Amino acid sequence: MEIIFATGNKNKMAEAKALVPSHIRLLSLGDIGFKGDIEESAETIEGNSILKARTIYDLYGKPVIAEDTGLEVEVLNGEPGVRSARYGGEHGNADKNMELLLENLNGELNRSARFKTVASFIDDKGILTCFEGIVSGNITLHKQGCGGFGYDPIFKPIGFDKVFAEFTEHEKNLISHRGIAFKKFIRFLETR
Ligand code: IMP
Repeated sequence: MEIIFATGNKNKMAEAKALVPSHIRLLSLGDIGFKGDIEESAETIEGNSILKARTIYDLYGKPVIAEDTGLEVEVLNGEPGVRSARYGGEHGNADKNMELLLENLNGELNRSARFKTVASFIDDKGILTCFEGIVSGNITLHKQGCGGFGYDPIFKPIGFDKVFAEFTEHEKNLISHRGIAFKKFIRFLETR
Protein backbone atom coordinates (compact mmCIF):
# COMPACT_ATOMS: atom_id res chain seq x y z
CA MET A 1 0.00 0.00 0.00
CA GLU A 2 1.36 3.42 -0.96
CA ILE A 3 0.64 6.53 1.08
CA ILE A 4 2.01 9.98 0.35
CA PHE A 5 3.53 11.65 3.40
CA ALA A 6 3.01 15.35 2.65
CA THR A 7 6.18 16.72 4.17
CA GLY A 8 9.41 18.13 2.88
CA ASN A 9 11.06 17.54 6.25
CA LYS A 10 13.59 14.70 5.98
CA ASN A 11 13.70 14.18 9.76
CA LYS A 12 9.92 13.75 9.95
CA MET A 13 10.07 11.33 7.03
CA ALA A 14 12.82 9.26 8.67
CA GLU A 15 10.86 9.06 11.95
CA ALA A 16 7.65 8.12 10.12
CA LYS A 17 9.34 5.45 7.98
CA ALA A 18 10.70 3.81 11.13
CA LEU A 19 7.16 3.71 12.54
CA VAL A 20 5.09 2.30 9.68
CA PRO A 21 5.05 -1.45 8.97
CA SER A 22 6.92 -2.70 5.89
CA HIS A 23 3.79 -3.30 3.78
CA ILE A 24 3.12 0.47 3.79
CA ARG A 25 5.34 2.44 1.44
CA LEU A 26 5.55 6.09 2.40
CA LEU A 27 6.11 8.31 -0.63
CA SER A 28 7.77 11.67 -0.10
CA LEU A 29 6.76 14.83 -1.95
CA GLY A 30 9.95 14.36 -3.96
CA ASP A 31 8.87 10.82 -4.93
CA ILE A 32 5.64 12.17 -6.44
CA GLY A 33 7.34 15.12 -8.14
CA PHE A 34 5.75 17.84 -6.00
CA LYS A 35 8.08 20.84 -5.93
CA GLY A 36 6.03 23.70 -4.51
CA ASP A 37 5.43 24.88 -0.96
CA ILE A 38 2.32 23.71 0.83
CA GLU A 39 0.35 26.55 2.38
CA GLU A 40 0.27 26.60 6.19
CA SER A 41 -2.12 29.51 6.67
CA ALA A 42 -4.55 28.02 9.21
CA GLU A 43 -4.86 29.35 12.76
CA THR A 44 -4.45 25.97 14.45
CA ILE A 45 -2.13 22.96 14.31
CA GLU A 46 -5.07 20.78 13.33
CA GLY A 47 -6.10 23.26 10.61
CA ASN A 48 -2.62 23.30 9.06
CA SER A 49 -2.37 19.53 9.23
CA ILE A 50 -5.66 19.15 7.34
CA LEU A 51 -4.70 21.89 4.87
CA LYS A 52 -1.48 20.05 3.96
CA ALA A 53 -3.30 16.73 3.49
CA ARG A 54 -6.12 18.32 1.43
CA THR A 55 -3.71 20.23 -0.82
CA ILE A 56 -1.88 17.06 -1.84
CA TYR A 57 -5.01 14.88 -2.02
CA ASP A 58 -6.71 17.41 -4.30
CA LEU A 59 -3.68 17.38 -6.62
CA TYR A 60 -2.95 13.64 -6.71
CA GLY A 61 -6.15 11.86 -5.57
CA LYS A 62 -4.14 9.24 -3.67
CA PRO A 63 -4.09 8.38 0.06
CA VAL A 64 -2.21 11.08 1.97
CA ILE A 65 -0.95 11.47 5.50
CA ALA A 66 0.15 14.94 6.62
CA GLU A 67 1.06 16.28 9.99
CA ASP A 68 1.59 19.57 11.73
CA THR A 69 3.44 19.95 15.00
CA GLY A 70 3.75 22.76 17.51
CA LEU A 71 5.50 23.36 20.79
CA GLU A 72 3.13 24.83 23.38
CA VAL A 73 4.74 26.55 26.36
CA GLU A 74 2.53 26.99 29.42
CA VAL A 75 3.71 30.40 30.66
CA LEU A 76 3.64 31.76 27.11
CA ASN A 77 -0.04 30.88 26.82
CA GLY A 78 0.64 28.08 24.38
CA GLU A 79 3.12 29.99 22.21
CA PRO A 80 4.88 29.33 19.89
CA GLY A 81 2.17 26.76 19.05
CA VAL A 82 1.00 27.03 15.47
CA ARG A 83 3.81 29.57 14.85
CA SER A 84 6.56 27.17 15.99
CA ALA A 85 8.31 26.99 12.61
CA ARG A 86 8.63 30.78 12.24
CA TYR A 87 8.79 31.85 15.90
CA GLY A 88 12.24 33.46 15.61
CA GLY A 89 11.21 35.37 12.48
CA GLU A 90 12.65 33.11 9.79
CA HIS A 91 10.70 30.04 8.69
CA GLY A 92 12.48 26.84 9.66
CA ASN A 93 15.47 28.47 11.38
CA ALA A 94 15.72 26.20 14.43
CA ASP A 95 18.55 28.12 16.09
CA LYS A 96 16.68 31.44 15.91
CA ASN A 97 13.48 29.77 17.15
CA MET A 98 15.24 28.24 20.15
CA GLU A 99 17.16 31.43 20.95
CA LEU A 100 13.98 33.51 21.10
CA LEU A 101 12.20 30.90 23.18
CA LEU A 102 15.07 30.69 25.69
CA GLU A 103 15.13 34.50 25.82
CA ASN A 104 11.39 34.69 26.45
CA LEU A 105 11.75 32.15 29.27
CA ASN A 106 14.75 33.89 30.82
CA GLY A 107 14.43 33.76 34.62
CA GLU A 108 11.18 31.78 34.38
CA LEU A 109 10.89 28.84 36.76
CA ASN A 110 7.82 27.25 35.17
CA ARG A 111 9.27 25.73 32.01
CA SER A 112 6.41 23.32 31.29
CA ALA A 113 5.75 22.68 27.63
CA ARG A 114 4.29 20.09 25.35
CA PHE A 115 4.72 19.01 21.78
CA LYS A 116 1.49 18.45 19.93
CA THR A 117 1.18 16.69 16.58
CA VAL A 118 -1.98 16.33 14.57
CA ALA A 119 -1.68 13.79 11.76
CA SER A 120 -4.37 13.93 9.08
CA PHE A 121 -5.08 10.97 6.83
CA ILE A 122 -7.19 11.20 3.69
CA ASP A 123 -8.01 7.82 2.20
CA ASP A 124 -8.52 6.89 -1.45
CA LYS A 125 -12.19 7.94 -1.19
CA GLY A 126 -11.34 11.36 0.20
CA ILE A 127 -12.38 10.61 3.78
CA LEU A 128 -10.43 12.51 6.42
CA THR A 129 -9.42 11.14 9.84
CA CYS A 130 -7.18 12.96 12.34
CA PHE A 131 -4.88 11.55 15.02
CA GLU A 132 -3.37 13.55 17.88
CA GLY A 133 -0.17 12.92 19.80
CA ILE A 134 1.02 14.92 22.80
CA VAL A 135 4.15 14.63 24.93
CA SER A 136 4.73 16.81 27.99
CA GLY A 137 8.05 18.03 29.25
CA ASN A 138 10.15 21.03 30.19
CA ILE A 139 12.24 23.56 28.31
CA THR A 140 15.85 23.37 29.44
CA LEU A 141 18.05 26.39 30.20
CA HIS A 142 20.46 25.65 27.35
CA LYS A 143 20.68 23.57 24.20
CA GLN A 144 21.93 20.04 24.71
CA GLY A 145 22.69 17.07 22.46
CA CYS A 146 23.20 16.89 18.74
CA GLY A 147 20.51 14.55 17.40
CA GLY A 148 16.92 15.20 16.33
CA PHE A 149 15.80 18.50 14.82
CA GLY A 150 13.80 21.64 15.51
CA TYR A 151 13.34 22.26 19.23
CA ASP A 152 14.73 18.83 20.24
CA PRO A 153 17.89 20.30 21.88
CA ILE A 154 15.81 22.20 24.50
CA PHE A 155 12.92 19.79 25.20
CA LYS A 156 13.24 17.31 28.06
CA PRO A 157 10.26 14.94 28.22
CA ILE A 158 8.83 14.21 31.67
CA GLY A 159 10.40 11.14 33.30
CA PHE A 160 13.68 11.45 31.41
CA ASP A 161 16.95 13.12 32.27
CA LYS A 162 17.89 14.01 28.71
CA VAL A 163 16.53 16.15 25.91
CA PHE A 164 15.06 14.74 22.69
CA ALA A 165 18.29 15.65 20.86
CA GLU A 166 20.02 13.06 23.07
CA PHE A 167 17.52 10.30 22.24
CA THR A 168 18.06 7.85 19.41
CA GLU A 169 15.39 8.02 16.72
CA HIS A 170 13.97 4.75 18.03
CA GLU A 171 13.81 6.02 21.63
CA LYS A 172 12.16 9.26 20.52
CA ASN A 173 9.57 7.41 18.44
CA LEU A 174 8.58 5.31 21.47
CA ILE A 175 7.31 8.33 23.42
CA SER A 176 7.10 11.33 21.12
CA HIS A 177 4.11 13.36 19.93
CA ARG A 178 4.71 12.14 16.35
CA GLY A 179 5.24 8.56 17.50
CA ILE A 180 1.93 8.60 19.39
CA ALA A 181 -0.02 10.16 16.51
CA PHE A 182 1.45 7.77 13.92
CA LYS A 183 0.85 4.71 16.12
CA LYS A 184 -2.83 5.73 16.33
CA PHE A 185 -2.84 6.10 12.54
CA ILE A 186 -1.26 2.66 11.99
CA ARG A 187 -3.75 1.03 14.39
CA PHE A 188 -6.56 2.74 12.44
CA LEU A 189 -5.27 1.33 9.14
CA GLU A 190 -4.98 -2.17 10.64
CA THR A 191 -8.50 -2.21 12.02
CA ARG A 192 -10.49 -0.87 9.10
P1 IMP B 1 5.94 21.94 11.26
O1 IMP B 1 5.00 20.91 11.74
O2 IMP B 1 6.89 21.36 10.23
O3 IMP B 1 5.29 23.22 10.84
O4 IMP B 1 6.91 22.24 12.47
C1 IMP B 1 6.74 23.31 13.35
C2 IMP B 1 8.02 23.57 14.09
O5 IMP B 1 8.18 22.60 15.11
C3 IMP B 1 9.29 23.54 13.25
O6 IMP B 1 10.15 24.53 13.74
C4 IMP B 1 9.85 22.17 13.52
O7 IMP B 1 11.26 22.16 13.40
C5 IMP B 1 9.41 21.94 14.94
N1 IMP B 1 9.21 20.51 15.18
C6 IMP B 1 8.33 19.69 14.55
N2 IMP B 1 8.46 18.45 15.02
C7 IMP B 1 9.44 18.49 15.95
C8 IMP B 1 10.03 17.50 16.76
O8 IMP B 1 9.71 16.30 16.73
N3 IMP B 1 11.00 17.92 17.58
C9 IMP B 1 11.40 19.23 17.65
N4 IMP B 1 10.89 20.18 16.91
C10 IMP B 1 9.91 19.81 16.05
